[in-house]
Amino acid sequence: MNLSCVILAAGLGTRMKSALPKVLHRVSGIPMLQAVVDTAKKLSPKRTVIVTGKQRSLIETTIECKSAVYAIQEEAKGTGHALRCARPALRSFRGVILVLNGDTPLLGAHTLKRFLNLHRKNGNAISVLSFEAENPDDYGRIVRDGSGQVLSIVEEKDTDSTQKKVKEVNSGVYAIDHGALDVLDEIEANRKKGEYYLTDIIAAASLRGLRASAFCIGTEEECMGVNTREELYRASLVLRRRILGKWMERGVTILDAGSVFIHPGVSIGKETVIYPNVHLEGNTRIGKNSIIYPNVRIQNSRIGDGVIIKDSTLIEDSRIADRASVGPFARIRPGSKIGREARIGNFVEIKKASIGKASKASHLSYIGDAVVGMNVNIGAGTITCNYDGVDKHKTEIGDGVFIGSGTELVAPVRVGKGAYVGAGTTVTENVPAYSLAMSRMRQRNIEGWARKRKSKVKSQKSRVKNAEQR
Ligand code: UD1
Ligand code: CA
Repeated sequence: MNLSCVILAAGLGTRMKSALPKVLHRVSGIPMLQAVVDTAKKLSPKRTVIVTGKQRSLIETTIECKSAVYAIQEEAKGTGHALRCARPALRSFRGVILVLNGDTPLLGAHTLKRFLNLHRKNGNAISVLSFEAENPDDYGRIVRDGSGQVLSIVEEKDTDSTQKKVKEVNSGVYAIDHGALDVLDEIEANRKKGEYYLTDIIAAASLRGLRASAFCIGTEEECMGVNTREELYRASLVLRRRILGKWMERGVTILDAGSVFIHPGVSIGKETVIYPNVHLEGNTRIGKNSIIYPNVRIQNSRIGDGVIIKDSTLIEDSRIADRASVGPFARIRPGSKIGREARIGNFVEIKKASIGKASKASHLSYIGDAVVGMNVNIGAGTITCNYDGVDKHKTEIGDGVFIGSGTELVAPVRVGKGAYVGAGTTVTENVPAYSLAMSRMRQRNIEGWARKRKSKVKSQKSRVKNAEQR
């Protein structure tokens, strides 16, 4: 089937009470419109037209869809008017136009394919996808005659008392043959709202004698439109449950589905265990047999197999290789690579640094803009002084190096293979391989100093007291 998709996304979204366009509000981490665009992609359309309004540029920069073209609806004059605005982008197109709403993020490609098949099989000019709603108030009612033929779609505000009771409602999804698109010209502005309703295309089609019908094949859950933040939350819950269900099905243990958030772009290997309050975001990939302990957030990162991420750790745009262990309370900032079997412990911050295989930084350190070799031991409280107030500089630490506790490495600086740096050293010059670097002052002990000081302080105090009494 020759297919084009038009996604309506130019509405004002007033009910969200937000400066952000409604369709950019996120469900389970992705903008609603992105979810719709991704679903449309699965139908392999010839063209995808996204209708946007005033906030067009923000939408264009946020949404990822190389093949999409944008149509502009300068003023939000209704869904019918929005589709009219897409017409120039569809000129010369021959086939079926599938209209989707940018605020219906849960609708799956499977249902849409079924719908398109029914549209074709029936030889319809126009079809609408409908569903039964528990509470139909938010949706347009599908009004049928005695024989079941669809006559029109009536919005809540325009219903009479019989229509109000109808539970079959409009999902906002239509299939329209290119030849029937000019029915749009016959739609008049709604008397109450002054908007051009796309829903009126059904009544207009019957008047013209075109074949039109509604296929009630959607579920309320997948067809739900998001108009308010409450609905946004409900849609997020549905999507979240779907995602968690999928990973559990594939062999991932999730200890508390109520507090784990996994974005749609994440993947997780078998036998991995996810503790409560874990957020896995963006395009994070986690291998198999790993454990993610509570209160961890991982964004756009690759985590290998058999990795342990301990409690309260933040990892962004980084890679953690197989069998490494990170945390508790570690922060892995963008551009970091933690090697196999490496150990990053509590209160350690790593930024744009690579840590070699089996190396350890177990306590209270900052390693930034650094290349650390294999089997390196970084003592507690080690700091790479990477910033001179103007530029960032690099620290290089060779294989097998031992860095004593409380060391400062003033970059740019290099510590050669197998070298030792004594505790408390401030390294300002390169350290040759297999040598020992020490820069601290030699210790001096002054015998009896403390006792002498004590008596001095005592006599001073009594002098002050006497002066005051006088
Ligand atoms: C619409 C339908 C309703 C249906 C419901 C399904 C109409 C008149 N009503 O109602 O029958 O049951 O969707 O969820 O069509 N948009 C534009 N330009 C505009 C107005 C809207 O592009 O001028 C876009 C919006 O961004 C949104 C979609 O069209 O993605 C639907 O608009 P919305 O205002 O949410 O319509 P509903 O009142 O929900
Ligand atoms: Ca809506």
